[in-house]
Amino acid sequence: MLVQSAEEVALAKMRASGARGRAQLRKNHLRDTLTIIGETPPGTSAYRRQARSFMPVEIRLGDDVRSFDQVRWCPGQEGNGFFLIMGSSGAGKTETLKLIGQQILEHGIPVLVLDFHGDVKVPWLPSVLMSSGTASWVGVNPMELDSHRAEEVGLYDQRMALLDLIERAIPGLGHHQRTILGEAIDTAYRQVGIREEDPETWLHQPPTFAQVLAILRQWVVAEEWKSRRPSILGCVAAVETAFGHPLFSRARHLPMEEILETGVRLDLSRVSDGVRYMVADTVLRKLFRMLSLLGPIPVEPESDLERFRLFVIIDEAKIMAGLPPRPNDAGLMINILVTEARKFGVGLILASQMQEHLGAEVRANTSAWLVLRQIDWHQVRKNAADIGVASDDLAQLKGKGDGFFRSQNGQLLQRVQVRRM
Ligand SMILES: Nc1ncnc2c1ncn2[C@@H]1O[C@H](COP(=O)(O)OP(=O)(O)OP(=O)(O)O)[C@@H](O)[C@H]1O
Ligand SMILES: [Mg+2]
Repeated sequence: MLVQSAEEVALAKMRASGARGRAQLRKNHLRDTLTIIGETPPGTSAYRRQARSFMPVEIRLGDDVRSFDQVRWCPGQEGNGFFLIMGSSGAGKTETLKLIGQQILEHGIPVLVLDFHGDVKVPWLPSVLMSSGTASWVGVNPMELDSHRAEEVGLYDQRMALLDLIERAIPGLGHHQRTILGEAIDTAYRQVGIREEDPETWLHQPPTFAQVLAILRQWVVAEEWKSRRPSILGCVAAVETAFGHPLFSRARHLPMEEILETGVRLDLSRVSDGVRYMVADTVLRKLFRMLSLLGPIPVEPESDLERFRLFVIIDEAKIMAGLPPRPNDAGLMINILVTEARKFGVGLILASQMQEHLGAEVRANTSAWLVLRQIDWHQVRKNAADIGVASDDLAQLKGKGDGFFRSQNGQLLQRVQVRRM
């Protein structure tokens, strides 16, 4: 019998509120007009409770420039809540993401924005700065273990997954260096009393990257490690910048249950790509784990409230492919989400300049696409084929939110001018 962690307690609370929510939903079923509720702003629990009547989720993107009809993305009517926005620099990707994020929040569904450039500011959504400065005070610890998975996935496997994560974030980590890093990570877990054979010890305060770095530095000068010194030095050099980042050693962690309750914008604009990747991957992995513990959504959801528990917005999806980008790596969180997360209530809205930065799974599993202006002819051709329009038509797009919207798995194609927020 495992001791209940803070996460488990939070999950139990969420399960209970889910039942209340469903009762409330039945009452509100017939109402579907979107209005702002009095003085209560979106992005709060109070708003969320009241906004349950704003279903189904209908995101007004703009007007069809040919028919003047409104163009809407209705994720509940699609095969999944995944949406891809493609376009060159200046095409209007970020503006569109903000417009979508705001409206999802107005529907009372939490939104997580992974903001790598610092410009995806969604009204009402609280921001958390993740940087080394004093204005930033919460962190994440990729070394935290998943005690819920003790039976299916042992410490060994979780350690390997951690090494994979580090390898995707830190280019140039050689085979020997990976072995040494693995041993240092093992030592760090043992130093805090975590033992493979005893899952209860997995709830101990986990070690941090800073501790792993300290172990490696001790090994550099230790006589018994003399023969491996060059490899250890190489390992320290490779991981030093990322592992020494204060984000990974802070005592206060991002409150995942709050993200699932009200949403948040994570401002990752002040850290390096490697750190961005590690933070984003760790946060998504934890959230996905929590959502899967809540169980799948109903096979036939009563409404979008049951269908969607969280929307994740990622501008610059390239970062999620690791360094250097390996978009088809099955272990990437972005690929795991597009293949498995729909049934746990996750929607995903991604923006990218180039097709090559997204894996085949992402492209194949995304039911809604917005293709904005592409300057590069190669991208024009690829995107044209993806959404089934002529390359010449796509090449005519003017920029600033002018685009083609493909929805309902390709059955509907509209030429849209995305409206400004
Ligand atoms: N729907 C829109 N209506 C009017 N102007 C727009 C619209 N979308 C974008 N713009 C204009 O185009 C500019 C660039 O838009 P945006 O920042 O969204 O581009 P982007 O595709 O994210 O570019 P990058 O890849 O460089 O980040 C905006 O600052 C704004 O002035
Ligand atoms: Mg942008």
